[in-house]
Order: sequence, then structure tokens, then C-alpha cells
Amino acid sequence: MVYITRRETFSAAHRLFNPNFSDEQNKKIFGKCSNPNWHGHNYILEVTVAGKPDPETGFVVNLTELKKIIKENIITKVDHKNLNTETDFMQGIIPSGENITVAFWKELEARIPGGKLYSVRLSETENNFFEYRGE
Ligand code: NI
Repeated sequence: MVYITRRETFSAAHRLFNPNFSDEQNKKIFGKCSNPNWHGHNYILEVTVAGKPDPETGFVVNLTELKKIIKENIITKVDHKNLNTETDFMQGIIPSGENITVAFWKELEARIPGGKLYSVRLSETENNFFEYRGE
């Protein structure tokens, strides 16, 4: 099995809060990330596809195609956007790193040509990474 990773970066705003919690509870649980006036991150997204190289091309997946799929389905919907209010597939979802990786997986899984989606990895800060490999 060969694993291929495409890396993309994007900047987005979000706010972590649960509408079922009081302002006080949100502040206690989510801290600075619950600022009502939003805050942003420079995210790094790594999408890994696994498969066997095609004997005729040597590719598991055509990286140009993979790049296009990630751009069209993810990056254009999140880059310089507010994840809470502007990203269609994030509506009603608390935009934690965990939930973002799962949401990205769902957007990408059925669209990967050739290989199989292996993991979606997201870095939110220099020290915090999230990774989802499906159920
Ligand atoms: Ni945050």
C-alpha cells in the first residue's frame, strides 16, 4: 500500500459554543475560543489517500485531480470564511478541530478517484493536530 498526502492551507474564523449552554457555561468550557466576536486560525489540512500504484501510470491517485477535488469541495468553502455562518457543510456543527476533520472526510470520501481516502489531518495551531481515519 502506498500513502499519498496532499497539503493545503487556509485561514478561517470560528467560534466554539453550544447554543444549549449559557454564556457562562460556554465561556467556562470553550474559553477564548468562545469569543462572541469570533477569532481565526491559519489551518493546515493534509489529505492522505492509500492505494496500489496503477501499473500504467505509476499513480495511486493523480495529484492534480486530488488537488482540484480538495480545492473545489473544501478550500473554496472555508478559506477566508466564517466556519459557523458561511460554510454550508458546517451548519449546526460546533467547529472544533475534531468536528472539522470529520466534516471534511464526509465531503471528500466519495469523491476520491482511484485510491481510498485514508486520513484527514488538520493542524489548528503549531501544537494542536486532529486526525480522522473514518469509523
Ligand atoms: Ni479556535
